Order: sequence, then structure tokens, then C-alpha cells
Amino acid sequence: MDKIRNILKFLRENNFYPNAKIITGSPTNVEVVIEGKKILMFCSNDYLGLANNEVLKKAAHKAVDEYGVGSGGSRLVSGNTDIQNQLEEVIAKYKGCEAAITFSTGYMANTGAIPAILDVMNLKKIGNKVVPLPSLTKNIILSDELNHASIIDGCRLGHSKIVVFKHKDMKDLESKLKKYKKHRKLIVTDGVFSMDGDITPLPEIVKLAKKYNALTMVDDAHGSGVLGKDGRGTVEHFGLEPSDIDIIMGTFTKAFGGVGGFVAGSKLLIDYLKVAARTYIFSAPIPPVISAALVAAVHEAETNESLRKNLNDNAVYLRTRLNKMGFDTLSSETQIIPVLIGEESKCIKFSDLLFDKGILAPTIRWPAVPWGQARLRLTVKATHTKEQINLLLENMEKIGKELKII
Ligand SMILES: Cc1ncc(COP(=O)(O)O)c(C=O)c1O
Repeated sequence: MDKIRNILKFLRENNFYPNAKIITGSPTNVEVVIEGKKILMFCSNDYLGLANNEVLKKAAHKAVDEYGVGSGGSRLVSGNTDIQNQLEEVIAKYKGCEAAITFSTGYMANTGAIPAILDVMNLKKIGNKVVPLPSLTKNIILSDELNHASIIDGCRLGHSKIVVFKHKDMKDLESKLKKYKKHRKLIVTDGVFSMDGDITPLPEIVKLAKKYNALTMVDDAHGSGVLGKDGRGTVEHFGLEPSDIDIIMGTFTKAFGGVGGFVAGSKLLIDYLKVAARTYIFSAPIPPVISAALVAAVHEAETNESLRKNLNDNAVYLRTRLNKMGFDTLSSETQIIPVLIGEESKCIKFSDLLFDKGILAPTIRWPAVPWGQARLRLTVKATHTKEQINLLLENMEKIGKELKII
């Protein structure tokens, strides 16, 4: 316990212990209540504003009467309902894939699917007994250096060599693919990078994967519901075919306004994950009540184009004005708009001053991003008004000048 006491002391003394604000009531409204004050939220991942959408709420109300609140157990034992299966059919169809499997969160999807795909089960029948044998395949996972923590953790569980390639650097990726020509390979990348808001060069990745016979996986947590004409994600954004990618992962936790993760792909892949992904087998699923709301969310995301248009308009409006003021928004090209501040303590000060003005935009700092690259990770929603964005801009300019950032 002394070790634990010491590390906590270290984190608190250096201002590294998180100080998450406590929200009273819904955390997904544009305006939330914190410490009794009305606060404008500019850091939510509920990009389309679906978490408080009336259609979803109605679906959840109806489902809670029918199914109750919990999941009752894992899918393979007691928690496999019609509505969860319907959600899998709906998300597979939306993503243009043959089938899908859902997990309680996106984190669970990555940490379940990646090891299962890398370390393929090796079973043998000896007499009348089935015996698991060690996998003999030499696997390589090629992972973009800015991939999300859940991918990194999934890779660590995969008993494979992890080869990190430079962020979106196709020359670096190719040189590493060449080096491991004879191995079984999986290239994994975020679709939209969660802390930088830029988009992976998926067509180039697909080309390289074909050339070097590698499997491909895209984590479309921040692209699903957002990118492409119908919001089908990074694959649609680039005009690729869903079958060009072997494994399409996503979450229901962001643009779909709920909670949960999924993997979509061929029926073969999904049938296998149902017996090999440990986070599917040994953990509770998305409860039926949330599944019902998510079926409505996918329909809303697919058909309500105006939400996506508002979101994109708001993102372009905020980013161009921030750039004009002189802020560095890195390579953002989506609704995730980082504002680079640099020094950790300066960024914390910036967030605190914004909060005093009634705006929530917490500091993102090491270890989520490299040391010395602390930033405000601003996100806009389809439901922000121009007046609300203008209020943010006004305060960004004042504080930016006061702290000598612009
Ligand atoms: C790129 C990416 N993948 C996966 C996840 C995990 O999703 P969830 O919050 O549903 O666990 C996140 C969450 O922030 C993410 O940004």
C-alpha cells in the first residue's frame, strides 16, 4: 500500500490527479449543470445530439417496460435477447457488412476482437477430448502510433509482435510490411484519430495490405454516424467498399448517443469472434433497453442527414475562426478540434478560465498525448447554435491573448 500512497501523492502534488467535474442531470445536453451553474459543453462525444433525442428516449421507455433494466448475464448463457440480435443486424446493414457482433463498450470490442484475430485458436481432438494447443503462427500487428489506448491494450493481449508505424506515414508502414513479409500481419488504425481529429489514409492502407497480404482493421469510433454521405464512416468517406476492410470496429458511445461497441465484417469473422473474443464470452452485453435505443439511433443517424450537415457546418465554422485568431488546431479535419497549448500548466489555466466563463473544455495532457503537447480537445455537436459557438470563440480569443498563446 505504501507504493500506492506514494504514487497518489506524486500525482496530486504535480497536479496530475484528474479533477472531473460532477454534472447534475443529463451529461449529454449542450448546456449542463455543474456546481449549480449552467455550463456550455464543448467536449462531448455525443456528436449528433442523439443521446437526448426524443425518438431514442421513446424507444428506451418502451423497452424498459418490456425488458427491465439489466442484461441478466453474458450472451452465451442467459443474456441473449431478440433486441440485441436486431441491433447486430441493423449495424451490420448500416456498415454494409454481412454480420456484426456487439460488446458492452468499444474498449471491450478492441480488447476482445484484436487478440482473438491475432492469436487464432488452435484446438485438437485427442480421443473424445478437445484440447487447446499453443498457437504456432508468427503474428505481426502494425499499429499507427496515435491509435487509441483500447487498440494498444488489445495488441498487448494478442501475444504478437507489435510494430508501431509513424502517424499516417505510408512509407514507414510499407518499409515495415516489407520487413515482415513472411509473417501473418494485421494493420490496425483509428479511422478518425481521437485526440487530433484527422482521418487515416485508408485507401493507401488498403492498397498496401493487398500488396503485402495483410489483414486490415479500422476503429471507426469517431467516424461512425459522422463521415460519408450517410454517416457510414471512414470507408464511405473514401468511397471504398466495406469488403475492402477485413474488420470494421466502432462504438455506440459517440455519435449514436448510447454505450457499447461493435465489430462488423464477414459472417465467417463474426461467427469466429462469438467463440473466441473473451470480452464477449466472459462479460455482460449491452443491456436490452440500451440496445432498443441504439436500433433507433442507427436509423436516425442513417436518415437524418440534417444532423450531419449541422455537425459539419459547426466544425468548419469553429475551426476556421480559431485558425484565423492564430490558434493551432493541428491537423484536425473533423468535429474533433484540438487547440494546442503546449505546456501542461498553461493548458490547465486555460481550461479553468474557460470554466469561469461557463464553458467546459478540459485539458488533455500526458499520457493521453505526448508530454509538452497539452491541448484543449474541443468537440462540436450538431445541436450547438452559432450563438453558443460565438460565445466560445469570444472567450477563446480573450483568454488566448491573456495567456499569450495568440
Ligand atoms: C478511437 C477509439 N476507439 C475506442 C474507444 C473506446 O470506446 P468506448 O468508450 O465505447 O469504450 C474510444 C473511446 O474514446 C476511441 O476514441
